[in-house]
Amino acid sequence: MPNNPVIVQPEPGGQPLWLFGYGSLIWRPGFPFAETSPATIEGWSRRFWQGSHDHRGTAAKPGRVVTLVPQSDARCGGMAYYINAAVVAETVGLLDHREKNGYQRIDLPIVLANGRRVCGVSYVALADNVAWLGDAPLGEIATLIATSAGPSGTNREYLLQLDAALKSLNVHDEHIDELAERVRRIAVQP
Ligand code: BEZ
Repeated sequence: MPNNPVIVQPEPGGQPLWLFGYGSLIWRPGFPFAETSPATIEGWSRRFWQGSHDHRGTAAKPGRVVTLVPQSDARCGGMAYYINAAVVAETVGLLDHREKNGYQRIDLPIVLANGRRVCGVSYVALADNVAWLGDAPLGEIATLIATSAGPSGTNREYLLQLDAALKSLNVHDEHIDELAERVRRIAVQP
């Protein structure tokens, strides 16, 4: 999966929804859910390739946040949330607003920790969006993260929270491990 991901914009409401979180939604969902489980998606890897001028950076100095990048042999670990039908419309509206800077809802299969496969959605920023920053040397990405901040807080805190959340789930992610290690070595700016 999926070289050409199918973008669907499910009509909010009517049906309950499984939502896969792989970034801040792991440690700060901020919406009501009926059930949650560690989960995995196949065919995607997590990368700090999306620019952020509205949360962890500014228009003058965008920070970097995670998105999912298609990669056929990859698996990405995170958390799945089951949202009751009665609050799907409100919840999706809230998340669409919170993640408006280049993210789209994408339909994808989710494997729950108990092995059950469910159909769900996730928020993904694809390479054609205006805030896309893409790949860069890890040292360059680490320096940007260590020195950026926006209305939601520092970019460093976002990375280290994600690193801690993944470790508590026993998810090994080399990209995140390496960036967190590099950022810890860069002094906090006054
Ligand atoms: C997430 O944690 O799944 C997420 C990451 C980036 C944007 C929106 C959601």
